Amino acid sequence: MPRPTEADANRPAPAGAPPDPHTGRSLPPGCELLICVCGGIAAYKTAALASMLVQRGCGVTVAMTGNARRFVGPITFQALTGRPVVTSPWRAAGSGDIQHLKLSETADLILVAPATANIIGKLAGGIADDLVSTLLLGAACPVILAPAMNTRMWQHPAVQRNVAFLRERGFELVGPEEGWQACGTVGPGRMSEPETLLATVREHLLRSKPGSSGSPS
Ligand SMILES: Cc1cc2nc3c(=O)[nH]c(=O)nc-3n(C[C@H](O)[C@H](O)[C@H](O)COP(=O)(O)O)c2cc1C
Repeated sequence: MPRPTEADANRPAPAGAPPDPHTGRSLPPGCELLICVCGGIAAYKTAALASMLVQRGCGVTVAMTGNARRFVGPITFQALTGRPVVTSPWRAAGSGDIQHLKLSETADLILVAPATANIIGKLAGGIADDLVSTLLLGAACPVILAPAMNTRMWQHPAVQRNVAFLRERGFELVGPEEGWQACGTVGPGRMSEPETLLATVREHLLRSKPGSSGSPS
């Protein structure tokens, strides 16, 4: 099979994707989501979400941090989305585009899932030292963060300060939720389930694309 190229990133989502089995609804036609995956255990849940979105007709492009790639391989997201995964700002997306800017210009929405303490801190602090932090700082569309981290990390005053700062500036957060954590404790910090993230993304896309019911055509 030929290797997908960066130009494949503009390939439309497969037609006729089955609607949400619960609501019978699909996502608005032509919608484009950019998912930024960071280095946390919950990255496996983001793979399930990517599949659900593609099945509902959404075009999904995935960008990963270097640490995210230690948890889930880009090949998983590439296979689920049918698009190359973007991992470096130093490779042009196609026709000389500046990738970290172009990616958010063609997306209706960015979802950061899992959003680590690190990326939350970098975004709040204006740090842009890799692809994901750079594209978030230059985002041309709304950004939703789905934090996931150990309870002590989540409750740390520095993280709470950063979260409050980002909320004030219009970033939406979904979760984290309370529950079992990979470190063996129970408490707040668990990333919201893929179904919850899907519902949040759908709500956003339906709002930003007025006139679209999101129903299957
Ligand atoms: C096994 C393991 C699990 C981790 N899980 C999380 C996590 O859920 N949330 C988090 O904020 N950091 C977690 N970390 C720490 C991050 O990977 C680390 O802060 C890293 O610098 C994040 O980089 P990124 O934000 O660029 O992906 C974990 C680290 C390890 C080794």
